[in-house]
Amino acid sequence: MTRIRLVQDELRPPGPPSRRHLLSIADLDRDDVERLLGTAQSFAASLERHVKKLPTLKGHLVVNLFYESSTRTSSSFELAAKRLSADTLTVRAAGSSVDKGESLKDTALTLGAYDPDVIVIRHPHVGAPQLVARVTAAHVVNAGDGTHQHPTQALLDLYTLRQELGRLEGLHVAIVGDVLHSRVARSLVEAFRLVGIRCTLVGPPTLLPRELPAETTTDIDAIRDADVVYVLRMQSERMQPGSCYVPSLREYSARWGITPERLRPGQKVMHPGPMNRGVEIDPRVADSADSLVTTEVRSGLVVRMAVLYDVLTGGPVGVRALAAAEVA
Ligand code: CP
Repeated sequence: MTRIRLVQDELRPPGPPSRRHLLSIADLDRDDVERLLGTAQSFAASLERHVKKLPTLKGHLVVNLFYESSTRTSSSFELAAKRLSADTLTVRAAGSSVDKGESLKDTALTLGAYDPDVIVIRHPHVGAPQLVARVTAAHVVNAGDGTHQHPTQALLDLYTLRQELGRLEGLHVAIVGDVLHSRVARSLVEAFRLVGIRCTLVGPPTLLPRELPAETTTDIDAIRDADVVYVLRMQSERMQPGSCYVPSLREYSARWGITPERLRPGQKVMHPGPMNRGVEIDPRVADSADSLVTTEVRSGLVVRMAVLYDVLTGGPVGVRALAAAEVA
């Protein structure tokens, strides 16, 4: 993992001490999760109405700052802010002054000059959201930092599981694939522990970290015991150049790819996207009635509405994260 180093003379943000961030699932307790999922459910009901826009965050500015490619996370945060009547400003690193060598700190200070209420950031380096929290007065939401955390993905997956299976406590989820490079898996394992979901990590031994608090196995047949199979993409963009984790994608697919034959009838399948069809997931599984992939995308909208609402108006999300960022 590459960590952003916080230097001693960072500027102190001028903002009030009550800022709330969502930087990591570790910043949440079970009550926070319950509150966020409940708020998301309320927003889902509001989206059933003919007029879907709510005035809730009128007058607030949400900046989406994306240093990595994204379809689902960036679009859902933007739409979530718009559904809540916030102003939005989306900056993608490609085509911005980042191309001219501008640092994350200077980009954050520049955008911070517009007094945004929330900055949503995705960055390839672990710790980037903490840096933005440190140098701006905005509430900061982590939309994915390197291999570290993707907390809103884990929350939307909890929301999806509860909506589809009617409960969280006592479920068993098998997470299959490239766990080593997956911020989604790290967030999910923590989130599952919070709510009492049993988790088994399945994949090639080279891609199964041992330090995560979950059972691990290389035996793909283990997925049949799970209520839900959660499939991960091979994240080649995060692999060290020249490293070799599996002999080939063809061999990976043959041994760990999720096919209809490997699933129990009716077994639910999730994937955070983007999917590599034919590699980690058979197209027949991706398109089956038991696939929850588009349901996850829909959940992403209401959960991100809930997160924006919560950091601005709700309970103490991420207080520990703020404290950690300020003493780092
Ligand atoms: N699941 C997820 O983070 O997808 P995007 O990379 O498209 O945002």
